[in-house]
Amino acid sequence: MTHVLEARSLVRDYHIPGSLFRKARTVHALKGVSFAVDEGKTLAIVGESGCGKSTLGRIITLIDPATAGELLIDGRKVDIAREGLTSEMRRKVQIVFQNPYGSLNPRQKIGDILAEPLVINTKVPAGERRDRAMTMLKKVGLEEKHYNRYPHMFSGGQRQRIAIARALMLNPKLLVLDEPVSALDLSVQAQVLNLLADLQDEFKLTYVFISHDLSVVRYIADDVMVMYYGEAVEYGSRDEVFSNPQHSYTKTLFAATPRADVASIKARLARKNAA
Ligand SMILES: Nc1ncnc2c1ncn2[C@@H]1O[C@H](COP(=O)(O)OP(=O)(O)OP(=O)(O)O)[C@@H](O)[C@H]1O
Ligand SMILES: [Mg+2]
Repeated sequence: MTHVLEARSLVRDYHIPGSLFRKARTVHALKGVSFAVDEGKTLAIVGESGCGKSTLGRIITLIDPATAGELLIDGRKVDIAREGLTSEMRRKVQIVFQNPYGSLNPRQKIGDILAEPLVINTKVPAGERRDRAMTMLKKVGLEEKHYNRYPHMFSGGQRQRIAIARALMLNPKLLVLDEPVSALDLSVQAQVLNLLADLQDEFKLTYVFISHDLSVVRYIADDVMVMYYGEAVEYGSRDEVFSNPQHSYTKTLFAATPRADVASIKARLARKNAA
């Protein structure tokens, strides 16, 4: 089976130009990261601020090019630096960001926000765009009456539901979620995580879930990759990584948070496999 997403030794350097007071320098944000994710699975990417998580997310979402290495989506190599991407390729991968207010245009009604990806990328007629937006609104737990409202009229959790709905309008296979619940209250976090789990089952979505919160990762991940200064210092199934962390950074990270409840992870995995 081909992986939905595969990364081979991805490298990303940022060149920071010099000024009168400072020499030009290069930030090595990614130093050769490799992993693969299969259909319907969730890879969680964990690590402290500045370790390269969002850089990786933007490369996977085809927003930024890698400096070196290979990215394969559905088994096909993609290189946005060299060749123009087909809209089919772009549609396959979508992203949801941490800040649901910043990522929604405050002057657009929800219906227009949801229909916009269809306007830009497809020839779907207006009537059908409206129908699809209505359907998606309900899928993410909102109501038809919300269609004509503006982003400021919603709570943070509702706004993140809108951002998720927008990301799903083009039927992507892969969703990159960059700290999607970090800005939300704990109780709302759980609701949005449950929604993401339901949507994943319904649409066979593959997730790359970026987070610094281990309790969230424990809940949602199949595989876990721990990053440290641009490198993957740990990569394996959730069970392996949580029950037997290898790298000293991971051990410190885990020690700083409530101990992993391996029994509950195993129970959930058993339930999932049984279902
Ligand atoms: N556009 C850019 N230009 C220059 N340096 C950048 C750029 N984007 C990121 N960096 C640098 O690359 C490194 C990785 O940044 P990145 O945003 O990927 O980290 P992160 O793991 O997402 O952090 P956080 O948890 O704070 O979101 C950091 O040192 C950052 O300063
Ligand atoms: Mg980030």
